[in-house]
Amino acid sequence: MLFFVDTANLDHIREAAELGILDGVTTNPSLMAKEGITGEKEVLKHYRSICEIVGKDRDVSAEVISTDFAGMVAEGKKLAELHENIVVKVPMIKEGVKAIAHFTELGIRTNCTLVFSAGQAILAAKAGATYVSPFIGRIDDTAWDGMKLIKDIFEIYGQTGYETAILAASIRNPLHIVQAAKAGADVVTCPLSAIMGLFYHPLTDIGLEKFLADYNKANG
Ligand code: E4P
Repeated sequence: MLFFVDTANLDHIREAAELGILDGVTTNPSLMAKEGITGEKEVLKHYRSICEIVGKDRDVSAEVISTDFAGMVAEGKKLAELHENIVVKVPMIKEGVKAIAHFTELGIRTNCTLVFSAGQAILAAKAGATYVSPFIGRIDDTAWDGMKLIKDIFEIYGQTGYETAILAASIRNPLHIVQAAKAGADVVTCPLSAIMGLFYHPLTDIGLEKFLADYNKANG
């Protein structure tokens, strides 16, 4: 399973990359706004910086703002030309599916975002999306079962042979990561805090403290 970090914060991306386990980055307009990145020039510059930090062969999802076919295609082409790492992120709407199908024909990789049902995931795969992004946390927020959606998509893609990768998004904590892995996600995208949460176990700390104390006792 691949690990993406879901942020536009360059320090967090750098920290995740330094761990040596980072496979890519996802961003969205809210995350870009949170970092104060505004205006086309700044936005493109920021995406280039992200691509340079993560290095070769790491996918970086950059989302289009347009909601009409022509606008999405124009924006997507510009984003894709920016850097070889860029994957064009397109919302799950009618025009978006059309745009994904068009990008597929052009050989431009896509991430279909804002997916909340198995039916939407089928449409994304049918259009040839590289990734489909079911939003686990936001589904859980409404008292539905986000992880069940991952399981359903995994089952459907397995049976149909769709090659779209399941990118579990809107991951909020380390347990979500573990559950997404069990449910069959190909990728998890999560804030750095959720990745860091995976490291911690009190018995690891206690065990290490004891090993070092015993070593120091034996070696003076
Ligand atoms: C996915 O690509 C989105 O950027 C993200 O995971 C949304 O997460 P949120 O629901 O925590 O905003």
